[in-house]
Amino acid sequence: MNARLHAFSGALHSALFRIQSAFVNRDTRIDSTTPPSTRNGRKNMAEGEVFIVGAGPGDAELLTLKAHRLLQTADVVLFDWLVSQSVLDSIPRHISKEFVGKRCGKHSMPQAMICQRLVELGLEGKRVVRLKGGDPAIFARTSEETTALHNAGIKFAIVPGITAASGASAYTGIPLTDRRFAQSVKFMTAQFQNPEKQADWAAIASSAKHETTVIYMGLKRLQQLSEKLINEGIDSAMPVAVIENACCPEQQVVTGTIATIYQRVLDAVVAGPALVIIGEVVTARQYVSAELMNESAVK
Ligand SMILES: C[S@@+](CC[C@H](N)C(=O)[O-])C[C@H]1O[C@@H](n2cnc3c(N)ncnc32)[C@H](O)[C@@H]1O
Repeated sequence: MNARLHAFSGALHSALFRIQSAFVNRDTRIDSTTPPSTRNGRKNMAEGEVFIVGAGPGDAELLTLKAHRLLQTADVVLFDWLVSQSVLDSIPRHISKEFVGKRCGKHSMPQAMICQRLVELGLEGKRVVRLKGGDPAIFARTSEETTALHNAGIKFAIVPGITAASGASAYTGIPLTDRRFAQSVKFMTAQFQNPEKQADWAAIASSAKHETTVIYMGLKRLQQLSEKLINEGIDSAMPVAVIENACCPEQQVVTGTIATIYQRVLDAVVAGPALVIIGEVVTARQYVSAELMNESAVK
């Protein structure tokens, strides 16, 4: 009996401890992000909401209907450098817009501050659109933002967008999974959080005959990554395309092989943003009709 009573009091104690900790944690979070008028708990707070929205790769007509509707009804839009001018132009003038930057190597606002700003606006009761280039699920650090919002008890939703690889495929005519050449497609980044943990270059080199690889953020490392793949035994005649500003009026496509692409990109003066597509599918490119691609003329 004593033992059971002891066990019960232990369980009660640990439950009380958990509840107390939750409040302590919540208070700490709110203290650092909340205006003084709302510091005494969530009851006093206005209900903000945050939509993490994919802006697509450039052409404003590639926004989803949902993204477009949210952009018309937001209080404030926080946007990245990748969001095109044509998308920004589709946001009504009275809606406040905050540039939060984040270009590789030129972060205008660190990720932690972006998370904090989202929480701040949410706690102020604002309807916020966090607008990201492409799709928020692809190389966009969305989970850091959703974690911050979740921890602060702010409602949020994610609205997908067209990722740069899909947009580039459509606007260049390079079919990513043409069945004659590729049974799968891999999206990878050349920007590694931990440089020690690089990609498995040997595996990429050996699968290139039947798998397309699309590399995001690969422009600055094009020379090294080409060399690594050649060292790992990729066919040096493997076709490669670099697509700059996909789906925008300034879209530029440079093609070559894994051995020649770096020099071709230098000659063409490619500044980015750009994708690198490696695989036989590059040779299956269909020349899409520029005049049918709406106002975003394709070169
Ligand atoms: C941080 S990642 C963001 C990817 C984005 N979430 C998406 O789904 O497209 C940024 C990289 O995406 C690629 N990218 C984004 N938009 C692009 C575009 N319009 N044309 C070519 N590459 C693009 C570039 O490789 C760029 O360095």
